[in-house]
Amino acid sequence: MKICVIGCGAIGTTIARAVEDMPEIETTYLTDRSQECATKLQEHTKKVRYIPDIVPVLPEIKLVAEAASQDAARYYVPLALSAGVDTLIMSVGVFQDEQFQTDAFRLAKRKGAKIFIPSGAIGGIDALSAASLEGMDEVTLTTTKPPSAFGPSPYLESKGFVPANIRVRTEIFYGSAREAVKHFPQNINVAATISLAGIGFEKTMIRIVCDPQVKTNEHNLRAKGKFGELDVVTRNVPSPRNPKTSYLAALSAISAIKKISGNTWVGA
Ligand SMILES: NC(=O)c1ccc[n+]([C@@H]2O[C@H](COP(=O)([O-])OP(=O)(O)OC[C@H]3O[C@@H](n4cnc5c(N)ncnc54)[C@H](O)[C@@H]3O)[C@@H](O)[C@H]2O)c1
Repeated sequence: MKICVIGCGAIGTTIARAVEDMPEIETTYLTDRSQECATKLQEHTKKVRYIPDIVPVLPEIKLVAEAASQDAARYYVPLALSAGVDTLIMSVGVFQDEQFQTDAFRLAKRKGAKIFIPSGAIGGIDALSAASLEGMDEVTLTTTKPPSAFGPSPYLESKGFVPANIRVRTEIFYGSAREAVKHFPQNINVAATISLAGIGFEKTMIRIVCDPQVKTNEHNLRAKGKFGELDVVTRNVPSPRNPKTSYLAALSAISAIKKISGNTWVGA
C-alpha cells in the first residue's frame, strides 16, 4: 500500500525510516512546508517521494499520517477524509477545538474513512478506552517535568512561578484537561488523547508538577470506575531528533501503521 506522511520532523522522519523495513508499504509520499528537509530525507531512503501537494496522490493512497502541527492537521485532515482516505493524527491537541472534532468525526463517518489516534507519549490508552464503556468516576493525569521543559507561559507568570527558579518539587497546575490544554500547549497532546479515550476534556483532571530532580517527562495516569482501578506510569526519554518530543510518541505512530497495514492487532 501507499501512504502519505505530513511532516518530516522528529516523528515524521522516524516513521519514514521505519516504513523502509515494512514490506506492506511500497511508497511513502512525504510533504513538509520545508522542501529542503523532505528532499534530504528522500535522498537517504528508498521509498520516500517528496510531493509539494498531497491532492494529486489522494486517489492512490490508503493512509495519511499527520505528524506536523495543529495547523497542518486543520488543513490536511479534512482534505484526506473528504477523499475517503484513512487518517492518522499525531497533533491530537487540535481536538480541543470542539467544532473541529465534531466536523472531523462527522466527515469521517460520511466518507467511510477512519481516524486513527495513536497512544502517543503515554501508556494505558487501550485500558482507559475499554474502561470508559462502563463510565468512570475519575481520570487524572499527573505530568512531572524538569524546569527546562516549561517555556515562557502567561499562566505561570500570572501565578508567580519562574520554572528556572524552582528548587523543590512544586505543583504548578491542577484543573480540567481543557484548561490544561489552554495554559500548557506543550502537554496538549497527551491530555487530549486521554480526554478522547476516556471521559472528555471537562471531566479529565490534569496535575502538572515541576521537579528539578527528574530527567524524564513522566506521565502518571490514574483512573477509577466499575472496571476497578488503573495506575500507569510512563517515563519518557526525549526523541533523539527533537528533545521536545518523547521518543515513545514516534514509536506509537510506527506501531499504529504496522497494525493498520498488517493482519494482526494486539491490544485492539
Ligand atoms: N500524540 C502525542 O503524544 C505527541 C507527542 C509528541 C508530539 N506530538 C505532536 O506531533 C507533531 C509532530 O511532532 P514532531 O516532534 O515531529 O515535530 P517537529 O517540530 O520535529 O516537526 C514538525 C515538521 O512538520 C512541518 N510542518 C509543521 N507545520 C506544517 C504545515 N502546516 N504544513 C507542512 N509541514 C508542516 C515542519 O516544517 C517540521 O518539519 C506536533 O504537532 C507535536 O505536538 C504528539
